Amino acid sequence: MDRIRLVGGNPLNGEIVISGAKNAALPLMIASLLTDEPLVLSNVPRLADVKQLERILENHGVDIAVHGRRRGESDGGGQRMTFHAADIVDTTAPYDLVSKMRASFWVIGPLLARCHEARVSLPGGCAIGTRPVDLFLFGLKELGAEIDIDDGYVVAKAPKGGLVGARIVFPKVSVGATHTLLMAATLANGTTMIENAAQEPEITNVAECLVAMGAKISGIGTRTLTIEGVEKLHGANVEVIPDRIETGTFAMAAAMTGGDVLLRGARPEHLQAALDILAKTGVDLTPEADGVRVRRNGNGILPVDIETQPFPGFPTDLQAQFMALMTMSQGTSHVRETIFENRYMHVAELARFGADIAVDGQVATIRGKDKLKGAQVMATDLRASVSLVIAGLAAKGETVVNRIYHLDRGFERLEDKLSRCGAEIERLAG
Ligand code: EPU
Repeated sequence: MDRIRLVGGNPLNGEIVISGAKNAALPLMIASLLTDEPLVLSNVPRLADVKQLERILENHGVDIAVHGRRRGESDGGGQRMTFHAADIVDTTAPYDLVSKMRASFWVIGPLLARCHEARVSLPGGCAIGTRPVDLFLFGLKELGAEIDIDDGYVVAKAPKGGLVGARIVFPKVSVGATHTLLMAATLANGTTMIENAAQEPEITNVAECLVAMGAKISGIGTRTLTIEGVEKLHGANVEVIPDRIETGTFAMAAAMTGGDVLLRGARPEHLQAALDILAKTGVDLTPEADGVRVRRNGNGILPVDIETQPFPGFPTDLQAQFMALMTMSQGTSHVRETIFENRYMHVAELARFGADIAVDGQVATIRGKDKLKGAQVMATDLRASVSLVIAGLAAKGETVVNRIYHLDRGFERLEDKLSRCGAEIERLAG
Protein backbone atom coordinates (compact mmCIF):
# COMPACT_ATOMS: atom_id res chain seq x y z
CA MET A 1 0.00 0.00 0.00
CA ASP A 2 1.36 3.44 -0.89
CA ARG A 3 2.45 5.81 1.85
CA ILE A 4 3.31 9.49 1.95
CA ARG A 5 6.54 10.64 3.53
CA LEU A 6 6.96 14.26 4.39
CA VAL A 7 9.36 16.44 6.31
CA GLY A 8 7.64 19.33 8.01
CA GLY A 9 8.72 22.86 8.65
CA ASN A 10 8.64 24.56 5.24
CA PRO A 11 6.03 27.29 4.84
CA LEU A 12 3.90 26.79 1.73
CA ASN A 13 4.51 29.52 -0.80
CA GLY A 14 3.20 29.82 -4.34
CA GLU A 15 0.10 28.92 -6.26
CA ILE A 16 -2.23 25.93 -6.21
CA VAL A 17 -4.81 25.34 -8.94
CA ILE A 18 -8.04 24.06 -7.40
CA SER A 19 -9.50 20.95 -9.06
CA GLY A 20 -13.11 20.20 -9.89
CA ALA A 21 -15.23 19.22 -6.89
CA LYS A 22 -15.50 15.49 -6.24
CA ASN A 23 -18.87 15.90 -4.56
CA ALA A 24 -20.28 17.75 -7.57
CA ALA A 25 -18.68 15.54 -10.22
CA LEU A 26 -20.17 12.34 -8.77
CA PRO A 27 -23.86 13.39 -8.83
CA LEU A 28 -23.37 15.14 -12.18
CA MET A 29 -22.11 11.86 -13.62
CA ILE A 30 -25.14 10.10 -12.13
CA ALA A 31 -27.45 12.67 -13.75
CA SER A 32 -26.37 11.28 -17.13
CA LEU A 33 -28.64 8.27 -16.42
CA LEU A 34 -31.67 10.55 -16.85
CA THR A 35 -31.31 10.99 -20.60
CA ASP A 36 -30.55 8.95 -23.71
CA GLU A 37 -28.51 11.87 -25.04
CA PRO A 38 -24.85 12.60 -24.18
CA LEU A 39 -24.00 14.67 -21.12
CA VAL A 40 -20.61 16.37 -21.45
CA LEU A 41 -18.89 17.35 -18.21
CA SER A 42 -15.75 19.47 -18.04
CA ASN A 43 -13.36 19.99 -15.14
CA VAL A 44 -13.91 16.44 -13.87
CA PRO A 45 -11.15 15.66 -11.35
CA ARG A 46 -8.92 12.60 -11.77
CA LEU A 47 -9.84 10.71 -8.63
CA ALA A 48 -10.33 7.11 -7.52
CA ASP A 49 -13.98 7.83 -6.65
CA VAL A 50 -14.64 9.13 -10.17
CA LYS A 51 -13.09 5.95 -11.62
CA GLN A 52 -15.21 3.82 -9.32
CA LEU A 53 -18.41 5.57 -10.37
CA GLU A 54 -17.41 5.13 -14.02
CA ARG A 55 -17.42 1.35 -13.39
CA ILE A 56 -20.87 1.54 -11.84
CA LEU A 57 -22.32 3.63 -14.67
CA GLU A 58 -20.73 1.38 -17.29
CA ASN A 59 -22.47 -1.56 -15.65
CA HIS A 60 -25.81 0.20 -16.28
CA GLY A 61 -24.84 0.61 -19.94
CA VAL A 62 -23.42 4.15 -19.96
CA ASP A 63 -20.75 4.79 -22.61
CA ILE A 64 -18.00 6.98 -21.20
CA ALA A 65 -15.36 8.85 -23.19
CA VAL A 66 -12.52 11.01 -21.95
CA HIS A 67 -11.61 13.80 -24.35
CA GLY A 68 -8.13 15.10 -25.06
CA ARG A 69 -6.74 18.46 -24.14
CA ARG A 70 -8.00 21.45 -26.12
CA ARG A 71 -6.08 24.57 -27.22
CA GLY A 72 -5.63 26.92 -24.29
CA GLU A 73 -6.19 24.21 -21.68
CA SER A 74 -3.35 23.59 -19.24
CA ASP A 75 -2.03 20.11 -18.74
CA GLY A 76 -3.17 18.59 -15.46
CA GLY A 77 -6.45 20.53 -15.75
CA GLY A 78 -9.74 18.71 -15.23
CA GLN A 79 -10.95 16.11 -17.68
CA ARG A 80 -13.66 16.66 -20.25
CA MET A 81 -15.82 13.58 -20.36
CA THR A 82 -18.95 12.41 -22.16
CA PHE A 83 -21.48 10.16 -20.45
CA HIS A 84 -23.99 8.62 -22.81
CA ALA A 85 -26.75 6.46 -21.37
CA ALA A 86 -28.44 5.70 -24.73
CA ASP A 87 -29.75 2.40 -23.44
CA ILE A 88 -29.87 1.39 -19.80
CA VAL A 89 -29.18 -2.33 -19.93
CA ASP A 90 -29.26 -3.14 -16.22
CA THR A 91 -31.13 -1.43 -13.38
CA THR A 92 -29.22 -3.31 -10.67
CA ALA A 93 -26.31 -1.67 -8.87
CA PRO A 94 -24.51 -4.63 -7.30
CA TYR A 95 -23.04 -4.86 -3.82
CA ASP A 96 -19.41 -5.23 -4.90
CA LEU A 97 -19.59 -1.89 -6.74
CA VAL A 98 -21.85 0.12 -4.41
CA SER A 99 -20.17 -0.96 -1.18
CA LYS A 100 -16.98 0.87 -2.16
CA MET A 101 -18.58 4.29 -2.36
CA ARG A 102 -21.71 5.57 -0.71
CA ALA A 103 -22.59 8.10 -3.43
CA SER A 104 -23.18 5.25 -5.89
CA PHE A 105 -26.44 4.53 -4.02
CA TRP A 106 -27.75 7.78 -5.53
CA VAL A 107 -28.25 6.04 -8.93
CA ILE A 108 -31.53 4.83 -7.46
CA GLY A 109 -33.16 8.22 -8.20
CA PRO A 110 -32.51 8.48 -11.94
CA LEU A 111 -32.94 4.73 -12.56
CA LEU A 112 -36.35 4.76 -10.93
CA ALA A 113 -37.37 7.94 -12.74
CA ARG A 114 -36.31 6.77 -16.19
CA CYS A 115 -36.68 2.99 -16.07
CA HIS A 116 -39.42 2.86 -13.39
CA GLU A 117 -37.41 0.29 -11.42
CA ALA A 118 -34.11 -0.04 -9.63
CA ARG A 119 -32.36 -2.61 -7.49
CA VAL A 120 -29.51 -1.00 -5.59
CA SER A 121 -27.35 -2.53 -2.90
CA LEU A 122 -27.53 -0.86 0.50
CA PRO A 123 -24.30 1.12 0.86
CA GLY A 124 -23.55 -0.24 4.35
CA GLY A 125 -21.77 1.45 7.20
CA CYS A 126 -18.86 3.78 6.89
CA ALA A 127 -15.98 4.89 9.05
CA ILE A 128 -17.56 8.24 9.94
CA GLY A 129 -20.97 7.05 11.15
CA THR A 130 -23.84 4.70 10.41
CA ARG A 131 -25.12 6.79 7.50
CA PRO A 132 -28.57 5.25 6.96
CA VAL A 133 -30.71 5.68 3.81
CA ASP A 134 -34.10 6.23 5.49
CA LEU A 135 -34.46 9.75 4.06
CA PHE A 136 -33.95 8.50 0.50
CA LEU A 137 -36.57 5.77 0.96
CA PHE A 138 -38.99 8.19 2.60
CA GLY A 139 -38.66 10.64 -0.30
CA LEU A 140 -38.97 8.00 -3.02
CA LYS A 141 -42.08 6.58 -1.35
CA GLU A 142 -43.59 10.07 -1.32
CA LEU A 143 -43.13 10.03 -5.13
CA GLY A 144 -45.18 6.84 -5.22
CA ALA A 145 -42.38 4.25 -5.30
CA GLU A 146 -42.92 0.87 -3.76
CA ILE A 147 -39.85 -0.13 -1.79
CA ASP A 148 -38.73 -3.52 -0.50
CA ILE A 149 -35.49 -4.54 1.14
CA ASP A 150 -34.43 -7.89 -0.22
CA ASP A 151 -31.14 -9.64 0.47
CA GLY A 152 -29.32 -6.39 1.24
CA TYR A 153 -30.78 -4.62 -1.78
CA VAL A 154 -33.29 -1.81 -2.01
CA VAL A 155 -35.78 -2.89 -4.64
CA ALA A 156 -37.78 0.09 -5.85
CA LYS A 157 -40.66 0.18 -8.32
CA ALA A 158 -42.46 3.23 -9.65
CA PRO A 159 -46.24 3.17 -10.12
CA LYS A 160 -47.54 2.36 -13.60
CA GLY A 161 -46.81 5.42 -15.73
CA GLY A 162 -43.90 6.53 -13.53
CA LEU A 163 -43.18 8.49 -10.37
CA VAL A 164 -45.73 11.05 -9.25
CA GLY A 165 -44.86 14.56 -8.02
CA ALA A 166 -45.40 15.20 -4.30
CA ARG A 167 -44.50 17.47 -1.40
CA ILE A 168 -41.47 16.03 0.39
CA VAL A 169 -40.56 17.58 3.74
CA PHE A 170 -37.23 16.18 4.88
CA PRO A 171 -37.02 15.91 8.67
CA LYS A 172 -33.24 16.36 8.40
CA VAL A 173 -30.98 17.98 5.81
CA SER A 174 -29.24 15.41 3.62
CA VAL A 175 -27.02 16.19 0.65
CA GLY A 176 -27.41 12.74 -0.91
CA ALA A 177 -31.17 12.51 -0.40
CA THR A 178 -31.61 15.98 -1.92
CA HIS A 179 -29.54 15.07 -5.01
CA THR A 180 -31.44 11.81 -5.43
CA LEU A 181 -34.96 13.20 -5.02
CA LEU A 182 -34.18 16.21 -7.17
CA MET A 183 -33.06 13.94 -9.99
CA ALA A 184 -36.00 11.58 -9.53
CA ALA A 185 -38.53 14.45 -9.57
CA THR A 186 -37.33 15.84 -12.91
CA LEU A 187 -39.09 13.02 -14.78
CA ALA A 188 -42.04 12.54 -12.39
CA ASN A 189 -45.61 13.30 -13.41
CA GLY A 190 -46.61 16.64 -11.93
CA THR A 191 -44.93 18.98 -9.47
CA THR A 192 -42.64 18.07 -6.58
CA MET A 193 -41.65 20.33 -3.72
CA ILE A 194 -38.60 19.38 -1.70
CA GLU A 195 -38.58 21.21 1.63
CA ASN A 196 -35.63 21.36 3.98
CA ALA A 197 -33.43 20.60 0.97
CA ALA A 198 -29.65 20.79 1.23
CA GLN A 199 -28.26 24.04 -0.19
CA GLU A 200 -24.67 22.99 -0.78
CA PRO A 201 -23.04 24.53 -3.89
CA GLU A 202 -22.79 21.00 -5.31
CA ILE A 203 -26.61 20.76 -5.22
CA THR A 204 -26.79 24.02 -7.15
CA ASN A 205 -24.28 22.70 -9.70
CA VAL A 206 -26.45 19.61 -10.23
CA ALA A 207 -29.72 21.57 -10.31
CA GLU A 208 -28.28 23.91 -12.94
CA CYS A 209 -27.09 20.90 -14.93
CA LEU A 210 -30.60 19.43 -14.81
CA VAL A 211 -32.05 22.75 -16.01
CA ALA A 212 -29.53 22.72 -18.89
CA MET A 213 -30.87 19.23 -19.67
CA GLY A 214 -34.42 20.58 -19.88
CA ALA A 215 -35.66 20.15 -16.29
CA LYS A 216 -37.96 22.75 -14.76
CA ILE A 217 -36.64 23.66 -11.33
CA SER A 218 -37.15 26.77 -9.23
CA GLY A 219 -35.76 27.78 -5.84
CA ILE A 220 -32.23 26.64 -6.74
CA GLY A 221 -29.84 27.50 -3.90
CA THR A 222 -32.66 27.78 -1.34
CA ARG A 223 -34.18 25.42 1.23
CA THR A 224 -37.19 24.68 -1.02
CA LEU A 225 -36.83 23.24 -4.48
CA THR A 226 -39.84 23.06 -6.78
CA ILE A 227 -39.62 20.70 -9.73
CA GLU A 228 -42.19 20.48 -12.47
CA GLY A 229 -41.74 17.08 -14.05
CA VAL A 230 -41.06 16.84 -17.78
CA GLU A 231 -41.40 13.89 -20.13
CA LYS A 232 -37.82 13.75 -21.30
CA LEU A 233 -34.45 15.34 -20.62
CA HIS A 234 -31.78 15.98 -23.23
CA GLY A 235 -27.99 16.27 -23.40
CA ALA A 236 -26.02 19.27 -22.12
CA ASN A 237 -22.53 20.66 -21.52
CA VAL A 238 -21.79 21.41 -17.88
CA GLU A 239 -18.71 22.43 -15.91
CA VAL A 240 -17.93 20.96 -12.50
CA ILE A 241 -17.48 23.70 -9.89
CA PRO A 242 -14.11 24.09 -8.12
CA ASP A 243 -13.70 21.97 -5.01
CA ARG A 244 -14.47 24.05 -1.93
CA ILE A 245 -13.17 21.35 0.40
CA GLU A 246 -9.84 21.18 -1.42
CA THR A 247 -9.75 24.98 -1.27
CA GLY A 248 -10.35 25.02 2.49
CA THR A 249 -7.83 22.24 3.02
CA PHE A 250 -5.02 24.11 1.28
CA ALA A 251 -6.04 27.36 2.99
CA MET A 252 -5.59 25.61 6.34
CA ALA A 253 -2.30 24.08 5.23
CA ALA A 254 -1.02 27.55 4.29
CA ALA A 255 -2.26 28.94 7.61
CA MET A 256 -0.68 26.14 9.58
CA THR A 257 2.75 26.34 7.92
CA GLY A 258 2.81 30.15 7.99
CA GLY A 259 2.87 30.50 4.21
CA ASP A 260 1.47 32.60 1.39
CA VAL A 261 -0.52 30.72 -1.23
CA LEU A 262 -2.78 31.78 -4.07
CA LEU A 263 -5.61 29.27 -4.48
CA ARG A 264 -6.35 29.69 -8.16
CA GLY A 265 -9.89 29.11 -9.33
CA ALA A 266 -11.28 29.01 -5.77
CA ARG A 267 -14.78 30.42 -5.26
CA PRO A 268 -14.70 32.11 -1.81
CA GLU A 269 -18.51 32.33 -1.68
CA HIS A 270 -18.63 28.52 -1.61
CA LEU A 271 -16.80 28.36 1.71
CA GLN A 272 -17.41 31.74 3.28
CA ALA A 273 -18.12 30.31 6.74
CA ALA A 274 -14.78 28.50 6.78
CA LEU A 275 -12.91 31.54 5.45
CA ASP A 276 -14.53 33.76 8.11
CA ILE A 277 -13.32 31.35 10.79
CA LEU A 278 -9.83 31.28 9.27
CA ALA A 279 -9.75 35.08 9.34
CA LYS A 280 -10.54 34.92 13.07
CA THR A 281 -7.52 32.66 13.58
CA GLY A 282 -5.40 35.54 12.31
CA VAL A 283 -4.96 34.55 8.66
CA ASP A 284 -5.01 37.20 5.91
CA LEU A 285 -7.44 36.31 3.15
CA THR A 286 -7.47 38.42 0.02
CA PRO A 287 -9.91 37.80 -2.82
CA GLU A 288 -8.10 37.97 -6.17
CA ALA A 289 -9.47 38.11 -9.70
CA ASP A 290 -9.30 34.33 -10.06
CA GLY A 291 -9.18 32.92 -6.56
CA VAL A 292 -8.18 33.75 -3.04
CA ARG A 293 -4.81 34.44 -1.43
CA VAL A 294 -4.11 33.00 2.03
CA ARG A 295 -1.27 34.37 4.11
CA ARG A 296 0.02 34.03 7.65
CA ASN A 297 3.28 35.79 8.14
CA GLY A 298 4.90 35.41 11.52
CA ASN A 299 1.81 35.83 13.72
CA GLY A 300 0.59 32.99 15.90
CA ILE A 301 -2.63 31.07 15.28
CA LEU A 302 -5.53 32.27 17.44
CA PRO A 303 -7.90 29.66 18.95
CA VAL A 304 -11.44 29.73 17.54
CA ASP A 305 -14.45 27.51 18.31
CA ILE A 306 -16.45 25.94 15.49
CA GLU A 307 -19.55 23.86 15.00
CA THR A 308 -20.18 21.92 11.79
CA GLN A 309 -23.47 22.66 10.03
CA PRO A 310 -25.07 22.07 6.63
CA PHE A 311 -24.26 24.76 4.05
CA PRO A 312 -23.91 27.73 4.50
CA GLY A 313 -22.42 26.72 7.87
CA PHE A 314 -18.94 25.38 8.56
CA PRO A 315 -18.60 22.13 6.53
CA THR A 316 -18.05 18.81 8.28
CA ASP A 317 -15.64 17.95 5.46
CA LEU A 318 -13.23 20.63 6.80
CA GLN A 319 -13.58 19.73 10.47
CA ALA A 320 -10.54 17.43 10.67
CA GLN A 321 -8.33 19.90 8.82
CA PHE A 322 -9.43 22.75 11.08
CA MET A 323 -8.73 20.62 14.13
CA ALA A 324 -5.20 20.01 12.83
CA LEU A 325 -4.75 23.79 12.60
CA MET A 326 -6.06 24.30 16.13
CA THR A 327 -3.50 21.84 17.56
CA MET A 328 -0.95 24.64 17.12
CA SER A 329 -3.11 27.56 18.24
CA GLN A 330 -2.15 29.84 21.12
CA GLY A 331 -4.88 28.62 23.46
CA THR A 332 -7.87 26.32 23.84
CA SER A 333 -10.51 25.81 21.18
CA HIS A 334 -13.59 23.61 20.77
CA VAL A 335 -14.96 21.73 17.81
CA ARG A 336 -18.53 20.44 17.78
CA GLU A 337 -19.32 17.87 15.08
CA THR A 338 -23.08 17.85 14.50
CA ILE A 339 -23.38 16.07 11.13
CA PHE A 340 -21.73 12.68 11.68
CA GLU A 341 -21.67 10.88 15.02
CA ASN A 342 -18.25 9.31 14.58
CA ARG A 343 -16.10 11.77 12.75
CA TYR A 344 -13.24 12.03 15.23
CA MET A 345 -11.10 9.16 13.96
CA HIS A 346 -8.27 11.63 13.33
CA VAL A 347 -8.05 12.60 17.01
CA ALA A 348 -6.02 9.55 18.06
CA GLU A 349 -3.73 10.02 15.06
CA LEU A 350 -3.20 13.75 15.69
CA ALA A 351 -2.18 12.77 19.22
CA ARG A 352 0.79 10.94 17.70
CA PHE A 353 2.17 14.33 16.67
CA GLY A 354 1.90 15.42 20.31
CA ALA A 355 -1.46 17.21 19.91
CA ASP A 356 -3.57 17.62 23.06
CA ILE A 357 -7.21 16.81 22.20
CA ALA A 358 -9.96 15.49 24.46
CA VAL A 359 -13.29 14.30 23.07
CA ASP A 360 -16.51 14.32 25.05
CA GLY A 361 -19.50 13.27 22.95
CA GLN A 362 -19.89 15.69 20.05
CA VAL A 363 -17.28 18.13 21.38
CA ALA A 364 -13.51 18.04 21.03
CA THR A 365 -11.38 20.34 23.17
CA ILE A 366 -8.03 21.20 21.66
CA ARG A 367 -5.24 22.74 23.70
CA GLY A 368 -2.79 24.33 21.30
CA LYS A 369 0.91 23.43 21.38
CA ASP A 370 3.93 25.46 20.26
CA LYS A 371 5.10 22.66 18.09
CA LEU A 372 4.16 19.22 16.81
CA LYS A 373 6.62 16.42 16.13
CA GLY A 374 6.55 14.22 13.02
CA ALA A 375 5.17 10.71 13.46
CA GLN A 376 4.00 7.51 11.76
CA VAL A 377 0.24 7.88 11.31
CA MET A 378 -2.59 6.02 9.63
CA ALA A 379 -5.28 7.49 7.45
CA THR A 380 -8.80 6.41 8.39
CA ASP A 381 -11.04 8.33 6.01
CA LEU A 382 -10.59 10.87 3.29
CA ARG A 383 -10.75 14.14 5.22
CA ALA A 384 -9.08 12.67 8.31
CA SER A 385 -6.16 11.60 6.11
CA VAL A 386 -5.54 15.03 4.75
CA SER A 387 -5.65 16.52 8.26
CA LEU A 388 -2.67 14.28 9.04
CA VAL A 389 -0.83 15.60 5.99
CA ILE A 390 -1.49 19.18 7.15
CA ALA A 391 -0.24 18.40 10.65
CA GLY A 392 2.83 16.71 9.15
CA LEU A 393 3.61 19.79 7.02
CA ALA A 394 3.85 21.89 10.17
CA ALA A 395 5.44 19.29 12.46
CA LYS A 396 9.16 19.09 13.12
CA GLY A 397 10.87 16.16 11.43
CA GLU A 398 9.63 13.26 9.39
CA THR A 399 6.04 12.04 9.09
CA VAL A 400 4.83 8.96 7.26
CA VAL A 401 1.12 8.72 6.47
CA ASN A 402 0.08 5.12 5.86
CA ARG A 403 -2.94 3.83 3.92
CA ILE A 404 -3.21 6.83 1.63
CA TYR A 405 -5.68 5.24 -0.77
CA HIS A 406 -8.24 7.33 1.08
CA LEU A 407 -6.45 10.47 -0.12
CA ASP A 408 -6.51 9.31 -3.73
CA ARG A 409 -10.29 9.03 -3.50
CA GLY A 410 -10.66 12.78 -3.10
CA PHE A 411 -7.48 14.80 -3.62
CA GLU A 412 -6.04 15.18 -7.10
CA ARG A 413 -2.21 15.26 -7.32
CA LEU A 414 -1.89 16.19 -3.65
CA GLU A 415 1.88 15.64 -3.34
CA ASP A 416 2.53 17.44 -6.61
CA LYS A 417 0.46 20.49 -5.65
CA LEU A 418 2.10 20.73 -2.23
CA SER A 419 5.66 20.14 -3.39
CA ARG A 420 5.32 22.90 -6.01
CA CYS A 421 4.74 25.21 -3.03
CA GLY A 422 7.90 24.11 -1.24
CA ALA A 423 6.68 21.16 0.82
CA GLU A 424 9.07 18.24 1.20
CA ILE A 425 6.65 15.45 0.36
CA GLU A 426 6.87 12.23 -1.61
CA ARG A 427 4.87 9.08 -2.26
CA LEU A 428 6.47 5.81 -1.27
CA ALA A 429 5.17 2.97 -3.41
CA GLY A 430 4.27 -0.44 -2.03
N1 EPU B 1 -28.69 10.75 7.06
C1 EPU B 1 -29.71 10.00 7.58
N2 EPU B 1 -30.53 9.33 6.73
C2 EPU B 1 -30.36 9.36 5.38
C3 EPU B 1 -29.33 10.16 4.85
C4 EPU B 1 -28.49 10.85 5.72
O1 EPU B 1 -29.87 9.93 8.81
O2 EPU B 1 -31.14 8.73 4.67
C5 EPU B 1 -27.80 11.47 7.98
C6 EPU B 1 -26.33 11.02 7.86
O3 EPU B 1 -26.11 9.85 8.59
C7 EPU B 1 -25.62 12.23 8.43
C8 EPU B 1 -26.49 13.40 7.96
O4 EPU B 1 -27.76 12.83 7.63
O5 EPU B 1 -25.61 12.18 9.81
C9 EPU B 1 -25.99 14.16 6.75
O6 EPU B 1 -25.62 13.24 5.74
P1 EPU B 1 -25.77 13.57 4.18
O7 EPU B 1 -26.79 12.68 3.62
O8 EPU B 1 -25.92 15.04 4.01
O9 EPU B 1 -24.33 13.14 3.66
P2 EPU B 1 -23.99 12.40 2.30
O10 EPU B 1 -24.88 12.86 1.24
O11 EPU B 1 -23.86 10.94 2.55
C10 EPU B 1 -22.31 14.19 1.45
C11 EPU B 1 -20.87 14.21 1.06
C12 EPU B 1 -20.01 14.00 2.29
C13 EPU B 1 -20.31 15.12 3.28
C14 EPU B 1 -21.81 15.14 3.61
C15 EPU B 1 -22.21 16.30 4.49
C16 EPU B 1 -20.79 13.43 -1.21
C17 EPU B 1 -20.40 12.37 -2.18
N3 EPU B 1 -20.60 13.18 0.07
O12 EPU B 1 -22.54 12.91 2.03
O13 EPU B 1 -18.67 14.09 1.89
O14 EPU B 1 -19.57 14.92 4.45
O15 EPU B 1 -22.56 15.25 2.38
O16 EPU B 1 -21.87 17.51 3.91
O17 EPU B 1 -21.25 14.49 -1.61
C18 EPU B 1 -16.39 13.48 1.78
O18 EPU B 1 -16.34 14.03 0.66
O19 EPU B 1 -15.36 13.10 2.39
C19 EPU B 1 -17.69 13.26 2.39
C20 EPU B 1 -17.89 12.37 3.38
